[in-house]
Amino acid sequence: MSDLSTRKDEHIDLAKQDAALAQIPNSLDRVRLTHQALPECDADQIDTSIRFLGMRLDAPIMISGMTGGSPRGDAINGVLAELANTHKLAFGVGSQRASLSQQNSQSGLRGRASDIPLIGNLGAAQLIEHGGNGGIDLARRAIDDLEPNALAIHLNPLQELVQPEGDRNWSGVKDMLARLVKQAGIPIIIKEVGAGLSVKTITELRDIGITCFDIAGLGGTNWTRIENSRTDQTRQDIMEPFMDWGIPTCSALQDAHAAVHDIQLIGSGGVRHGLDVARCLWLGADIAAAAGPFIKAVELADGKLSPDRLNDVLDIWKQQIKVAMFLTGSKHVKALKQADGVITT
Ligand SMILES: Cc1cc2nc3c(=O)[nH]c(=O)nc-3n(C[C@H](O)[C@H](O)[C@H](O)COP(=O)(O)O)c2cc1C
Repeated sequence: MSDLSTRKDEHIDLAKQDAALAQIPNSLDRVRLTHQALPECDADQIDTSIRFLGMRLDAPIMISGMTGGSPRGDAINGVLAELANTHKLAFGVGSQRASLSQQNSQSGLRGRASDIPLIGNLGAAQLIEHGGNGGIDLARRAIDDLEPNALAIHLNPLQELVQPEGDRNWSGVKDMLARLVKQAGIPIIIKEVGAGLSVKTITELRDIGITCFDIAGLGGTNWTRIENSRTDQTRQDIMEPFMDWGIPTCSALQDAHAAVHDIQLIGSGGVRHGLDVARCLWLGADIAAAAGPFIKAVELADGKLSPDRLNDVLDIWKQQIKVAMFLTGSKHVKALKQADGVITT
């Protein structure tokens, strides 16, 4: 297995531990949707469906990009894709760089995710690494291999800085993205990986034609902590004050929704259950996404895959969204977005 695939597997192990979580209170707990004792709707008729990337989903949930390119990662992706398809949810793969560099095609996933939005994934820093047209070529290969409905590009400058082998040069990323958005032929989604997207970043990227953003704010899986456990003492000492650096999910979503118009927002970073999904939608997200909770559900401590457990978790999340909608008197997702609620300090 290549170094890259080994690193990806190591990431899965580390991400499943509690030490991988941000050590600050989860900002989504600041959101209190207002209880309505007169809901005026039937709990069994709540409609949680949405449209995303031109397709109808049963619930506003996306399984975020995590893995692919190693035998273990490919097996996990197979289960995630099938269950997302059964539950009619969106599904993203992790960075396709490892699979592309090893000519290990992930094309089989398209058939398993035939009825849902499938989202490819590459890192922005890797796109500029190749210079010239190399980044566009890499994106083209990623799209040709997976045939996704959209390609997510992750911006993870903090994670790269902590990684011993991380990319440090981020000059030229915006120009690369401006070219990519014109040439990709499918929508480009910009995502963070747990430190959040600011209004300034989103506005700059909206101005070059990108219209879908996955906030991936601070509060859930924390890559600074994960990568720090794999690095040397000097780097650990430098990065020590930055362990919980980033924009908490609640404020990142609230600010982006208030300040930037004509974009789609994906709410993620510390989404733990269906109530958090509802909170993200209320904060302005069009759909919510999670990664850590789903990897923990699908892979048991002994490494065995458990499709049944993930199936149960997805059922529970869908029910929880319905409970939140019923108790806020929201018959459908549009009503939930306009429901009463407060953000506590
Ligand atoms: C095991 C694991 C691997 C991940 N790999 C990637 C990746 O390759 N590309 C990416 O854009 N994000 C990656 N992420 C970040 C997630 O997509 C997500 O943005 C982040 O974990 C925040 O969500 P969470 O708090 O629900 O985990 C990964 C997350 C996990 C847990």
